[in-house]
Amino acid sequence: QRAQVIAVDGPSGVGKGMVVRGLASRLGWHRLDSGALYRILALAAQAASIDLADTDRVAALAAKLDIRFDGDTEEDERILVNGTDVVKEVRSETTGGLASQIATAPAVRAALLQRQRDFRVAPGLIADGRDMGTVVFPDAGLKIFLTASAEERAKRRANQLSARGQVVRLADLSAEIRARDERDRTRAVAPLVPAPDAVEIDTSLLNPAQVFERIDELLKTRG
Ligand code: C5P
Repeated sequence: QRAQVIAVDGPSGVGKGMVVRGLASRLGWHRLDSGALYRILALAAQAASIDLADTDRVAALAAKLDIRFDGDTEEDERILVNGTDVVKEVRSETTGGLASQIATAPAVRAALLQRQRDFRVAPGLIADGRDMGTVVFPDAGLKIFLTASAEERAKRRANQLSARGQVVRLADLSAEIRARDERDRTRAVAPLVPAPDAVEIDTSLLNPAQVFERIDELLKTRG
């Protein structure tokens, strides 16, 4: 019997991180932020002066990274890569853009696949990303696909970044998020699409409590 998985997919700024943190703490399950792995790998490649277009070298670097996630809330989050806390760089929108560039490469995705599956440990895992329900955990017991209007997502991401002390212009951020989503949706490998058996939740007009209410209903009906 393999540990249970709840897959949470959707575009950037839709609130996946908030949902995953909330569910993990209510259920006492583990958490996987798969986007952070792509972000970390992009940063590490850059730091090693590897051309991001040289996807074989980028993919090979994945095996050399010792990655540790620490902290239960967004505020006290730490991401240790080979011992150094890189959370600030990891969370910038610039890094999000770099991550989505390397994420188009099959070699890179393959290099991170097992690493993501290793997070599946009892009593269960809540995983968020773009292809959790379609590729990484196709047998997840519950698949949620979150959506929200582009304007709302840009606003949420701006609030999140400014809470971290990063200065952002809403117009720039909005353009960056759109470009990144377009790339994520149209790439050939593991594009951002809901799994056929995913439940879509449009969160544009919902507050976090209302999103959790919807998910609680799903958890009840699915056992
Ligand atoms: O979710 P986050 O914004 O941290 O993801 C950064 C980028 O990493 C995404 O825009 C996407 O290109 C890529 N990604 C992916 N597959 C995942 C998670 C993230 O391709 N499962």
